Amino acid sequence: MAAPIALIQGASRGLGLEFCRHVLKNKPLAGVIATCRDPDRAVELRGLADQHPGRVTVLGLDVDREEDIRRAAERVTESFGRLDLVVNSSAMLHPSGKGETSLKEVSAQDLISTLTTNTVGPLIMAKHFAPLLRKGGGGFGQQPVEKANRHSGIIVNITAKVGSISDNGLGGWYSYRMSKAALNMATKNLSIELGRHRPKVVCVSLHPGTVNTDLSRPYHRNVPKDKLFSTQHSVNCLMSIIDTLNVEKTGKAYSWDGTVLPW
Ligand SMILES: NC(=O)c1ccc[n+]([C@@H]2O[C@H](COP(=O)([O-])OP(=O)(O)OC[C@H]3O[C@@H](n4cnc5c(N)ncnc54)[C@H](OP(=O)(O)O)[C@@H]3O)[C@@H](O)[C@H]2O)c1
Repeated sequence: MAAPIALIQGASRGLGLEFCRHVLKNKPLAGVIATCRDPDRAVELRGLADQHPGRVTVLGLDVDREEDIRRAAERVTESFGRLDLVVNSSAMLHPSGKGETSLKEVSAQDLISTLTTNTVGPLIMAKHFAPLLRKGGGGFGQQPVEKANRHSGIIVNITAKVGSISDNGLGGWYSYRMSKAALNMATKNLSIELGRHRPKVVCVSLHPGTVNTDLSRPYHRNVPKDKLFSTQHSVNCLMSIIDTLNVEKTGKAYSWDGTVLPW
């Protein structure tokens, strides 16, 4: 089987950077394509690439710009011709860094910016990278014995528990909650369309828990210590889920502990 290739979108910091570290450490044969909007400023990512010569390709990609996504897909097509895993990790809580606490704080422009990055971007990623995932070798996840149920690739959209409509008991954070609820709908739609034909592509949403990153920093003091995960712990949990994905598990959202997160 050819060496698996993972593309991590939003790899400059936080969970995206940790996904790159994890794959490089734990999948010794795998190649990583790490995309971020400004590779020159992604110092840690470039350091990681230097530590693993020949295994990491860093590409500039602002997920708000379809042209960047299209160009990155062309580069991957030319250089690799296939993909086994795409993780859409990039997102923002809100352009201000803090979620809205009430309706009067909602602004049309901030809502549109949040939806553009968190929801539209991952769907446009799927549009341009699905053809490469269809040519993948199914190097991530579990392959059943029957050929008919094999998948060639996996799309992971990193969601958040606050995007669950049925779990919403508190309100607030309009932009972020709406962006992740809509992202989950994109996941479901993608799982249906990309699961229709052979080879199938699996698509899931994954919730990483509350993780010690810049995104959640303004709220860390409200989180009990044992509930604030390191990026390493969260990505270990998420990769254990990815390692057991198959076509029967497509089209759902899962929390870091493997339980199904209700829509
Ligand atoms: N941390 C948590 O507690 C938590 C909880 C639930 C869900 N999540 C989800 O986990 C995922 C990762 O978040 P994180 O905690 O790792 O956040 P983070 O540390 O703030 O990292 C956010 C990443 O998104 C990238 N990004 C933002 N806008 C972008 C754009 N337009 N184009 C390309 N990249 C862009 C950033 O790149 P730059 O370096 O260029 O800014 C950065 O790499 C997100 O989907 C988030 O919603 C996080």
